[in-house]
Formats: sequence, structure tokens, C-alpha cells
Amino acid sequence: MNWFSGNNENKPLLNKAKTNLKNNRTWILRAIFLSILLLGVLYLLFVLFKGEAESNNVIKTTKNPLHISSKATTNDNYLIQCAPRVKCDPNVKYRSINGSCNNLYVPTRGAAKTSFLRLLDANYNDGHYDFRRQTNGSKLPNPRIINIKLFLSREIYRLSENNVLLLPFGQLIAHDISGLPNDVPRTPNDVIIDCCTDDNARKTFAQCQLIVEDPPDDPVYSKHNITCMGVTRSMTSMNYSCPLSPTTFININTQFIDASEVYGSNESISRYLRVMEGGRLKFTTNNNGEMFCPIQKKKQYEPIQLQTSNIQYETGDPDNGNQNLGITAIQTLFLRYHNYLAFQLSALNPYWSDEILYQESRRIVIATIQRIVYNDFLPIIIGQDFQEIYGINEENIYDPTVDPSMAQELSSAAIRVLHTIIPVQFNFMSNEYNIDYSINITDWMANPDLLPIGNNFDKLFKGFLETPGRITQPSYNFFISNYMFSFPKQPAYTGLDLLSIDIARGRDVGLQPYNQVRHLCGRSLANDFDDLVDLIHIKDINTLKELYHSVNDIDLMVGLLLEKLSDGAIVGPTAQCLIADGFYRFKVGDRFFYDVQGQPGSFTPDQLKEIKKITLGHVICATSNVDHVQKDIFKTIDHKSFPTSKMKCGNEFYIDLTYWKEPSHHSDL
Ligand code: HEM
Ligand SMILES: *[C@@H]1O[C@H](CO)[C@@H](O)[C@H](O)[C@H]1NC(C)=O
Ligand SMILES: *[C@@H]1O[C@H](CO)[C@@H](O)[C@H](O)[C@H]1NC(C)=O
Ligand SMILES: *[C@@H]1O[C@H](CO)[C@@H](O)[C@H](O)[C@H]1NC(C)=O
Ligand SMILES: *[C@@H]1O[C@H](CO)[C@@H](O)[C@H](O)[C@H]1NC(C)=O
Ligand SMILES: *[C@@H]1O[C@H](CO)[C@@H](O)[C@H](O)[C@H]1NC(C)=O
Ligand SMILES: *[C@@H]1O[C@H](CO)[C@@H](O)[C@H](O)[C@H]1NC(C)=O
Repeated sequence: MNWFSGNNENKPLLNKAKTNLKNNRTWILRAIFLSILLLGVLYLLFVLFKGEAESNNVIKTTKNPLHISSKATTNDNYLIQCAPRVKCDPNVKYRSINGSCNNLYVPTRGAAKTSFLRLLDANYNDGHYDFRRQTNGSKLPNPRIINIKLFLSREIYRLSENNVLLLPFGQLIAHDISGLPNDVPRTPNDVIIDCCTDDNARKTFAQCQLIVEDPPDDPVYSKHNITCMGVTRSMTSMNYSCPLSPTTFININTQFIDASEVYGSNESISRYLRVMEGGRLKFTTNNNGEMFCPIQKKKQYEPIQLQTSNIQYETGDPDNGNQNLGITAIQTLFLRYHNYLAFQLSALNPYWSDEILYQESRRIVIATIQRIVYNDFLPIIIGQDFQEIYGINEENIYDPTVDPSMAQELSSAAIRVLHTIIPVQFNFMSNEYNIDYSINITDWMANPDLLPIGNNFDKLFKGFLETPGRITQPSYNFFISNYMFSFPKQPAYTGLDLLSIDIARGRDVGLQPYNQVRHLCGRSLANDFDDLVDLIHIKDINTLKELYHSVNDIDLMVGLLLEKLSDGAIVGPTAQCLIADGFYRFKVGDRFFYDVQGQPGSFTPDQLKEIKKITLGHVICATSNVDHVQKDIFKTIDHKSFPTSKMKCGNEFYIDLTYWKEPSHHSDL
């Protein structure tokens, strides 16, 4: 256990003591005395917690063989060398906007703009930044060819028992905990450079190394003479003035599940998103007077393939709030929910300030999202039983020695397995529960213009609740595998392949190959391709043999997608292991997790009981004109065929905030 906080975090205190008290001898002596005392206390704490950390680990590993621990050696480098020094007040009731001071021993742990965690050390050919090579020294196979040979033409069209709502909610959570910006090369005049069309750029800009060349016999692109996908490398710690080796990546969002996509991950954006009155967040209204996110003054969203939209919304997630209609819709839902809570709380507590209303509403929004994640979402992904035996369902289990950071293996591979549930279309459903119309998702990427028109918001949520989702399977849907972000006013085939990008991204961030990660998750190392047969179909193993030189070369993303599903889960065992590890960390490593007791920010037992009643159904009922929702909110129920299976919004889904009413000093008088 690398426990450096004792040495590190007291430096600013000492420096300050020195400068303030320079010219006064007695003060100097006192300062020295106090410093020694402080060092002593810190050393004690250090010893105590080190001991506790170690004994906890011992207990946990003997107790729970499912748990994995990081074997990487570089994890604390960013915090030690580059994170700001932050002083914390342990009595603060609300979590900070950027996640600092959640962990009182290592205040920047889990904060926005700290590094991703690595479970295994980075794997680069030069040990620093050059893409991993095959064990025989050759380049790794082209990601597009991997997609074509293994995935593209074997879609399964069976429907899931889960509805489409699982998708935007999952994506919302993904963006809550992870943000890795692309490093898009630009000219000195700030014009975006297209790595594909500019041969010179390919040689000059390291960012262009990630482009994917489409093979000459590509079943989609070759017909249209398209030869290249302009994928760029990610921002590194270098871009945040922190040179580290091997290359380290920075998460621009807070690593906790804390609705940072609603509130922002730094103080300036979070203030910008507030009205500063009544605790509310800024919003715009459409012609019906319905609430939507504020509109960006200057459009920020600029992938090279940029759609021509009239509006782009401002959200707490700098890169992704407008990425597709689904994510924009659910961002809007939680903006409305915040403002709904702020309004209800101000009616109960008319004397509360803007700040208190904002923070109390925010605290409930975060608790609600955490509740939905652990109660309704995660069990579908990794399986109810697995979640239980992993120990994720235990209550009130905060442990400051658990690192809450997003693992690179999780963000850049395991959780992206859920890209397989992206459907081709969204349905807009009328009041009478008929499909009014459907849209191709890929036609509406980076373009939320449809959302505020008429009753589209309600129709889209009805569609999410009523439409069966796509089942997880190795392939992504054909559209997202070929037509993602097409050039404005150009045909769909000018778009990108999300699966190729996901494979390429794993190489960009230096992920270890599948075999190593599978091993971390408790399997013995495969010596040969054929050893993979416990989890991967023999037909796929044979294709893998054609693509890769050795079993130790297979990309993590590829292996994860090919694994047979675990019992009760919608992902295979290795993805299940990585996702469980992450969501264990996000819960146990979060001092402000909604069920943690004995903290300044803890809910009262009565409040907690109310929080535990809230489902995504409550949120939808409180913020839309959807009139019926199901108890199992992610299960498909066809309202027309089973009109009594859903419940009417109203009493059953009412959020009771009575326990947030403070005895008023004014009324006491
Ligand atoms: C319509 C739905 C979705 C679309 C169109 C979409 C598309 C994308 C795209 C284009 C990227 C950036 C890829 C790159 O450059 O590396 C990305 C990243 C990612 N996606 Fe999705 N995605 C969707 C849904 C989901 C879902 C349901 C999840 C998981 C629950 C998910 C998890 C992630 C994660 C963790 C990242 C990395 C984010 C970061 O750190 O910046 N996505 N997705
Ligand atoms: C987070 O916010 C605090 C307080 O505003 C600030 O001092 C710190 O530099 C920020 N960043 C990190 C990584 O803690
Ligand atoms: C394909 O592109 C190449 C290079 O830009 C060009 O020379 C060729 O004429 C194009 N062919 C078609 C069929 O458009
Ligand atoms: C990020 O850092 C790399 C390497 O130093 C540099 O080439 C690139 O221009 C930087 N990107 C941005 C957006 O500053
Ligand atoms: C705060 O976050 C926004 C994006 O949400 C970003 O544009 C801005 O540069 C950040 N500001 C600081 C000081 O980091
Ligand atoms: C979806 O895309 C396909 C292929 O481009 C097209 O044939 C179809 O009409 C589109 N559907 C809608 C609703 O736009
Ligand atoms: C390495 O293996 C790959 C895949 O089997 C093969 O295409 C490539 O030619 C090999 N390279 C060398 C140097 O043998």
C-alpha cells in the first residue's frame, strides 16, 4: 500500500507557517514546535491507517476471492507529482464540485483532473507512448479488419427483455465517472486538422497516429472510395503540464458517481450553470413552456464530423451532452429533476438560501442516481447474485483506503461492451402508445434539434420505456459500426465505426492484452489460443488465430466482446469482473455515498428511508408528462397489451420530502 499522504499533504501547512511568521523569533519556535507536533500526529495517523489498510486488505482477500487488486506500479504518480495541494474541512456537509476532499487523507483522490487508475501497468512498445506490438514484433492487426472479420456480419436480431431506457441511463453514468478528451490537432489559427486528408499532418502530429485505414476490400467504405477514419489520440497528463512516464491519462470528470454531468466538474462551470436564485439550475423553455438545458452561446462540440444543428445544450459534461438524442434527453430529465426538488424544498423551507436549496437538491439528485445505479442498473449488467456475493450490496461500507478512481481498463474497454446495446432507432410514442415515428440514431448525432419540438421529449421517454432494447452480443449494430458521425450534409457512409475506435482507443491508452486482464480476473494464463475455449467460441478462436500472432496479442476489447455471457449478466466474466471492481470502488471509496452514516453529509434515517423509495420511475413522473411507468423501470412492458402492468404516475411515485422540512426558527417565534 502506497500511503504517502502523511508526507505530502502537510507541506502547504508548513510553508504557510514559515512565511507568515518570518520575523518573529518566538513564533518561529512555536511554529517549529507545532510542526513537529503535527508531523508526529500525521505519522501516527499514517501508521494507524497503514495498519488498518493492510489488515482490511487481508480480511477482504481471504473473505472475498472475487475481489481483484491493482497490480500497477504507477498509480500514485500523478497525485504525488502533479495534483494541487488542497486543504480540507472535515465538517463540510456537501461534496465539493470537483470531488476534492472526499477522501480526507488524500484530498485529491477521485477529484476531476486526476489520473485514471490502472489495474495493470501500461503496455507500450517503447515503455512510454508507442503502440503495443505483437509478440513477434509486427504491428497489431488493423481494428477495422478485426471488426470486419469477427463482428460486422453476424448481428443477432433477438430482442432484450430490457427496454431502451437502459441505454441512455448507462451512458449518463459512463459520463458521470469518465471523461477522456481527444487531442484533436489544430493549426496555429485553431482550425481543426483532418488527419485523414492531410498527409503531412499524419507525419507531423503524434495525435494522428490513431487513424484507422480502411482496407481496400472494406464491405462498406471501399464502395465509396473512403479509405481512412480520422481517430485521434487522447489528451495525456502532458496536456495538463504533468509529464509522466509511461503515458498517463487524465479523467476530466470527477471519478465519483456524483452527477457531475449535471453540475459540472469545476467551480466555474458549476457556477455558470446556476441561476443563483431559488437553488435552481439555468434552463430554457420550448414553445410549450417545458424545461430544457441552457443553450450554448458558442457551440463547443466539434468532432471532425460535425452535424449541422441549430442548438447545442450546455450541461455539466463538457464533451458529451449533445452526443445523441438519448443522452441529451436524460441530461434534460435530471436538470428538470433538480429544479423540481429545489422548488419543492423551497416551498417546505421558505427561508432557505439559494446555496442551501441548491446543495440539498443536488444531494438528493446524486443520491437518486446512486440508488438507481446500484439497485436497478448494475444488477442487470453484472447479475443480481454476482453483485450480492461481490459484497457490493452491503450498506454503509465507506473505506478511505479504497481508491474510487475510474480504471483505464474499465473506461477504455470493459464498460464499452455496453456499446453493443446501442439500437439502430429510437421510437417516438404518442399519448395513445402508438409509435408516431422512428429515427435512425446515427442520423441525429451531435444534433439535439428534435428534442424540444412539440411533445417530443415525452414521446421519446415513452418510446424508451416501451421499446425492447438490443441484446448484448459480440457485434455492434451496423449503423454505429459504419455510419457514426457522418460529415454534415454528406451520406451516412462518411461516418465512423465505433467498434474500430474502441479497439484503437485501448491501444492508445496502453491497455494490456486480453490474456493478462483475464488472468487478473482469476483465470490461469492461456498458453495457446485453444486455452481460451472456456470463454470463447471455437469458431471465434480460429478467426483470432488468423488475425493475431499469439494468444498474448489479442486486444482486451476484442476478448471482452467475444466472451460468453456470465449467468444472470449481460456481459462476460472478464467485463463482469472489471465492472464489479469499478462499482465497488465508486461506492466503498465515496465518503458521501448516500447510505454512509456518521458523516456531516449523511442523511437522517427518515430521509434515507425516503431516498430508498425513489426509482427512475419517480424521476420520470416528476419531470415529464409520461403518465404510466413500470416498477422495474428497465423492463419492457407493452402498455397497450398489458394496460394494468404499469402504474399510474401519482401517489405510488410521489416523492415525499417532508423529512427535509426544518423546524423553522421564524415560525417558532
Ligand atoms: C447511443 C449511445 C452511445 C453512443 C453513440 C456512444 C458513443 C461513444 C463514443 C463516440 C465514444 C468516444 C469513443 C472514443 O473516441 O474513444 C464513447 C466513449 C465511451 N462510451 Fe459510449 N456511446 C453510447 C452509449 C454508451 C453506453 C450505454 C455506455 C456504458 C454504459 C458507454 C460507455 C462509454 C465510455 C465509458 C466511454 C469513454 C468515455 C470517456 O472517458 O470519455 N457508452 N461512446
Ligand atoms: C478542486 O477544487 C479545489 C477547491 O476549489 C482546488 O483547490 C483544487 O485545485 C481542485 N482540483 C483538484 C484536483 O483537487
Ligand atoms: C478514389 O479516390 C482516389 C484518390 O483520391 C481517386 O484518384 C479516384 O478517382 C477515386 N475513385 C472514385 C471511384 O471516386
Ligand atoms: C497535448 O500534448 C501534446 C504533447 O505535448 C501536444 O503535441 C499537443 O499539442 C497538446 N494538445 C493540446 C490540445 O494542447
Ligand atoms: C471547467 O469545465 C469546463 C467544461 O465543463 C471547461 O470548459 C473549463 O475550461 C474548466 N475550467 C477550468 C478552470 O478547469
Ligand atoms: C434509416 O437508414 C436507412 C439506411 O440509410 C434508410 O433506408 C432508412 O430510411 C432510415 N430510416 C429512417 C427512419 O430515417
Ligand atoms: C507476426 O504475426 C502476424 C500475425 O500472424 C503476421 O501477419 C506477421 O507477418 C508476423 N510478423 C513477423 C515478423 O513474423
